[in-house]
Amino acid sequence: MVKKSDDSENSSEKKAPQLTDLPGIGPAVSAKLESAGIYDMMSLAVMSPGQLGDAAGVSPAVARKAIQAARKMMDLGFTDGLEYAKKRESILYITTGAKNFDELLGGKGIEAKAITEAFGAFGSGKTQLGLTLAVNVQLPIEKGGANGKCVFIDTEGTFRPARIKQIAENLGANPEKVLKNIFVARAFNSDHQILLVEKIGEMIKDGEPIKLVIIDSLTAHFRAEYAGRGTLADRQHKINKYLHNLMKLAETYGVAIYVTNQVMANPAQMFGDPTTPIGGHIVGHASTYRLYLRRGKKGSRVAKLVDSPSLPDDETIFWVTNAGVVDEE
Ligand code: GTP
Ligand code: MG
Repeated sequence: MVKKSDDSENSSEKKAPQLTDLPGIGPAVSAKLESAGIYDMMSLAVMSPGQLGDAAGVSPAVARKAIQAARKMMDLGFTDGLEYAKKRESILYITTGAKNFDELLGGKGIEAKAITEAFGAFGSGKTQLGLTLAVNVQLPIEKGGANGKCVFIDTEGTFRPARIKQIAENLGANPEKVLKNIFVARAFNSDHQILLVEKIGEMIKDGEPIKLVIIDSLTAHFRAEYAGRGTLADRQHKINKYLHNLMKLAETYGVAIYVTNQVMANPAQMFGDPTTPIGGHIVGHASTYRLYLRRGKKGSRVAKLVDSPSLPDDETIFWVTNAGVVDEE
């Protein structure tokens, strides 16, 4: 499990200092950093001197100085418990559409500054939950939304505008407006998928109030491209790095991340549910909340929360209807 530091909170609220305010970072180096996807102080503050040196083309000593200055400006470090609790209270949540499902996740749905992963077999509801969240994030905060926009990275061509409209209509929202607030990108391979995430920070910096990023599916391209055991370690490394970047995006900008993950048969498991999420424990550790979705009785769906840092492992029933994810049929 990734420990959520919460110390990035200040970055989006105070007026953001520029990279060029740092020692050793002039306009040319700053431009170089931007083209490497590093736009703001927080992204730089959490880098290692080696990483920054490579990205900026400066010596490790210069990089170290810049990082130290950035960390000072960002006020990274410890926060007292009361302050920490206050910050946690201000975290946004997005309702799943079902009260019981929200309860499973601690009461209010999926959490900003965190990665929620749904894994499960085909037809278990992973994409449907994503489409529902893409609509619900746009709701006002008092209605369970985050009053924000959504980015949907589609690796499998499963984004359905008509389905979004249908869910929006059922909520009494304007379907065209709802669609307009969802930025959809089809990722054609894993590199493209990685590149698209780098773009999101840029969009937020340009003023787009993005509060939810959906990646459906997180693992499909990686799985297809790294077929065969020989390259498994490479694949895991790449997925791991990708998840790390996603977590950084989540923490820097206070967005919620929802990713889906397929399952494969686990030949070592002879009894029970013979499925294992792709990417195994690496994806598992990087996700803050992991949901296992499966088909239940009479067309219902079951969501099970696994290995949560703060919540008990538990499960609940939900339904996928014309209105999206709901408590009862
Ligand atoms: P894969 O992507 O194939 O791994 O599956 P998934 O977990 O993403 O499944 P998905 O979320 O696409 O669930 C598909 C199921 O959702 C269908 O079998 C239907 O039961 C349900 N569903 C999809 N669209 C609608 C709809 O418009 N109305 C209703 N009532 N149900 C729908
Ligand atoms: Mg799907």
